[in-house]
Amino acid sequence: MNSVRVFAPASVANVSCGYDVLGFAVHEPGDEVVMNLTDSGKVSLDLVEGDDGRLPLDPKKNTVSAVVINFLNHIGSDQGISIKLYKKMPFGSGLGSSSASAVAGLVGVNELMGNPLSRLDLLPFAMEGERLACGNAHADNVAPALLGGMVLIRSYDPLDVITLPVPEGLSCALVYPHVEIPTMEARQIIRANIPMASAIRQWGNVGGLIAGLYSDDLELIGRSMEDVIVEPVRKMLIPHFDEMRDIALESKAIGFGISGSGPTVFALCGNEKIAKDVILSLAERLNADGLDSTCYVSEINTEGARVM
Ligand code: HSE
Repeated sequence: MNSVRVFAPASVANVSCGYDVLGFAVHEPGDEVVMNLTDSGKVSLDLVEGDDGRLPLDPKKNTVSAVVINFLNHIGSDQGISIKLYKKMPFGSGLGSSSASAVAGLVGVNELMGNPLSRLDLLPFAMEGERLACGNAHADNVAPALLGGMVLIRSYDPLDVITLPVPEGLSCALVYPHVEIPTMEARQIIRANIPMASAIRQWGNVGGLIAGLYSDDLELIGRSMEDVIVEPVRKMLIPHFDEMRDIALESKAIGFGISGSGPTVFALCGNEKIAKDVILSLAERLNADGLDSTCYVSEINTEGARVM
């Protein structure tokens, strides 16, 4: 194989209560890469489309090519590769944009080299891409984008990643208000210390959410989607956050929260119709204040990145 095209999906990190330890993939949006073997002996980034010229073209500085270089070094290859990146989602949106690019690059180079590594083996490389993009190597976007489904990072050291079951028909409403929140900044505003009472409530919620996923208990999932640690700080950056939550829950969403570091908000819903109602109501609310938004409805993507 000399050429490959890969799609890697957006992802919703944290899932409210699981800061840095929970995330799931959706079907859209997502990024695409096209990669070709060359005889240049180098990795080159020959096109980045859809970024308004904002991403670096230096292969060592752009996430997509940097992870490919690390992968090739790891397997001891000096194979030349040309990369074209098609960005199909906004930056600083909370949808795991840089993660999707890194994952697409890794799945692509792995495919071109005959799949020497498993998807799970690719995860540490994708995490290093996160470090390059936002200064921290968290896995709650890259793991679901790579592996698909709802993923728990039980431990970072050693890395222990568990794919969780997802109730059938569960649908996710995503609303991205057009304001940009860089992940690095959204991480800096979080308090370094947590009161014990908040920690107790939060780990109760993480356990409840996971129990709800295993038992198909939508009500339990919904009441566990409560974040008493990160959301109270970050929601101040998101227009009409509390009001949007009320609207989503009135529209029968089971739970509502910030997608990753925001400003995208997400609502988990028992079916697609409710998810569509939710995005309409939320977009209407934002629009009443002259705020544009982009909306998506998606089931949980259990496949993750795919070679097209
Ligand atoms: N867990 C990360 C955060 C996801 O909330 O900062 C964003 O990349």
